[in-house]
Amino acid sequence: MKKTIVITGGAGFIGSHVVRLFVNKYPEYRIINLDKLTYAGNLANLKDIEDKPNYRFVRMDICDFEGIYKLMQDEHVDGIIHLAAESHVDRSIKDPFTFAQTNVMGTLSLLQAAKAYWESLPEKYEGKRFYHISTDEVYGALEMTHPDGIEPPFSTKASSGKHHLAYGEKFFTEELKYQPHSPYSAAKASSDHFVRAFHDTFGMPTIVTNCSNNYGPYQFPEKLIPLFINNIRHRKALPVYGKGENVRDWLYVEDHARAIDTIFHKGKIAETYNIGGFNEWKNIDIIKVLINTVDRLLGRPEGQDMDLITYVTDRAGHDLRYAIDSSKLQKELGWEPSLQFEEGIEKTVRWYLDNQEWMDNVTSGDYQNYYESMYGGR
Ligand code: NAD
Ligand code: DAU
Repeated sequence: MKKTIVITGGAGFIGSHVVRLFVNKYPEYRIINLDKLTYAGNLANLKDIEDKPNYRFVRMDICDFEGIYKLMQDEHVDGIIHLAAESHVDRSIKDPFTFAQTNVMGTLSLLQAAKAYWESLPEKYEGKRFYHISTDEVYGALEMTHPDGIEPPFSTKASSGKHHLAYGEKFFTEELKYQPHSPYSAAKASSDHFVRAFHDTFGMPTIVTNCSNNYGPYQFPEKLIPLFINNIRHRKALPVYGKGENVRDWLYVEDHARAIDTIFHKGKIAETYNIGGFNEWKNIDIIKVLINTVDRLLGRPEGQDMDLITYVTDRAGHDLRYAIDSSKLQKELGWEPSLQFEEGIEKTVRWYLDNQEWMDNVTSGDYQNYYESMYGGR
């Protein structure tokens, strides 16, 4: 069936994987990548699909209500997959206003534009969908408790029936109340509430998903994994916040994109789904894996670069542990992560080492000229 779908934030890390998946998998769909191209947007992430006939890029701010409303009318938009956001916690601590503006007001302006357009159609909301991509950080932070004095990580069984290692007994489930701590997660939480309010008040067909930390190709090198891979390569210090004891739950980005595809097509309206791979790691342990992998792939003695580890002042309000329970998604919609972490991290390190040009373009700022050269300022 033909559909026109706007994917916001498609020039960013996760968005570029979602755009690529949809453009390649659904030639019958028209995919519009709507992105403002902030520092985090990089059209070079989509070089391989930019000439496909079912793809169009539109440079626009999600806060531009008029622009979005007109685009929806002109293009007869059926669905929105909303990823555009300010996404880096450290930046939100320095500049919360931008996070409220983009993540809250931007989401609201998209919702209002979609409401105005869809309600003007004879079929109203029939066949329409507003899918909002959120984060596990809205649930706050989990403790590192362990049963019977066992030192974490310990083996436990998820409600999906599978065994995995965990650093605590509690997990983020869809029923948990929101307790965001950072300005980033507070803004994301607020946007999630607006999305649900548009379903409850106006009957808009919305879905919200909350995902754990993603890793993989095309991530902006301000985030832990690409930053540290690049620093290890160039033998630069690795700034570990606090003691490196914080736990994150890591998912390969293409598995997140596949989950988004599954949920967009099969998810129930008004539902929330948590997305994660039951894959908890302490930062310091991941950092050691990165060092060993980069060293091995570059032909250096494995572990040689451990001396780059530099403990620095902790992030303000640093959440201790995130751990997603994705049993609902696994049981109800049959999604599962496809990659083991060892395989995913090896693939990721290789990708950054093999794509030094991409990294150099980003770190030098040259990537910001790509739009002008491709689209001539249109
Ligand atoms: P990113 O920072 O890599 O990309 C964000 C994209 O949004 C960029 O292309 C940027 O240009 C665009 N953008 C920013 N402000 C905009 C605006 N006002 N108008 C239009 N476009 C704008 O982010 P990411 O890591 O790919 O995250 C994407 C989404 O997924 C975010 O909503 C984030 O909260 C969520 N999320 C991220 C992770 C993660 O681990 N990265 C995990 C769970 C959820
Ligand atoms: O959980 C999902 C979230 O994951 C997403 O919603 C966010 O958009 C995404 O940025 C990510 O947030 P984190 O704060 O967990 O990711 P980040 O890569 O910034 O940091 C991962 C961990 O590593 C965190 O505990 C902080 C630590 N860290 C990070 C950096 C950049 C360091 O120790 N040193 C660093 O230099």
